[in-house]
Amino acid sequence: MRKPLVMGNWKLNGSKTMALDLVTSLKKELAGIDGCDVAIAPPVVYLDYVQKLLADSNIMLGAQNVDTHLSGAYTGDISAEMLKEIGATHIIIGHSERRTYHAECDKFIAQKFATLKENGLVPVLCIGESEAENEAGQTQAVCAKQLDAVIDLLGAKAFNNAVIAYEPIWAIGTGKSATPAQAQAVHKFIREHIAKVDADIAQQVIIQYGGSVNDKNAAELFTQPDIDGALVGGASLKADAFAVIVKAAAKTKK
Ligand code: 13P
Repeated sequence: MRKPLVMGNWKLNGSKTMALDLVTSLKKELAGIDGCDVAIAPPVVYLDYVQKLLADSNIMLGAQNVDTHLSGAYTGDISAEMLKEIGATHIIIGHSERRTYHAECDKFIAQKFATLKENGLVPVLCIGESEAENEAGQTQAVCAKQLDAVIDLLGAKAFNNAVIAYEPIWAIGTGKSATPAQAQAVHKFIREHIAKVDADIAQQVIIQYGGSVNDKNAAELFTQPDIDGALVGGASLKADAFAVIVKAAAKTKK
């Protein structure tokens, strides 16, 4: 049985005051939760602060990006070693916002995956199709291509203790989540695609759904057999909504 993971991606939101309020509430709401792993990924400047706030809790620290280099003349970048030193464990890569606004390609993202694995960190690899690709029936082909970049570079074994987040771009921040059946079909495809190379790895890999997950739709999404939690944007900024999502995952996946 896979233990679900619900992760909050704060994106470019927050402040120290907000982080203090949100983390304090989350710690209270989520104390004693054991059926679901939980992580939050604040903006990089707040990582150290949030890590200290989380010190006595079961909530893990995540980050939203990493560079492929460990050190050197790469202005503005952050290395896997730095993230590790600060206490982050789950690192989002390949998010569609970075693919779009920073022109990150599959090969570069696969290199980030490699850097994270080499440093004992958990990659949270985001994949997913655009609205036009969805309408053109290319969802599976897009997801396969994004997965294959990692499989070609590192082999399917690299997905051991890694996370995949299926985030259809048309569902992100739109309030228009994929239906549970729609998401399940793609999650099943993702697992089967990896199983073609390594059935054991495919069975254990966590596949989160992301895209307008909220306190109202989470429980139904989690009833689907291949949906192992969620990567949550907007609703992760509200402690009560995020806690409802975590509790839904813990309950449904028991
Ligand atoms: P929303 O939950 O705001 O749609 O964002 C999803 C997302 O992009 C998480 O990485």
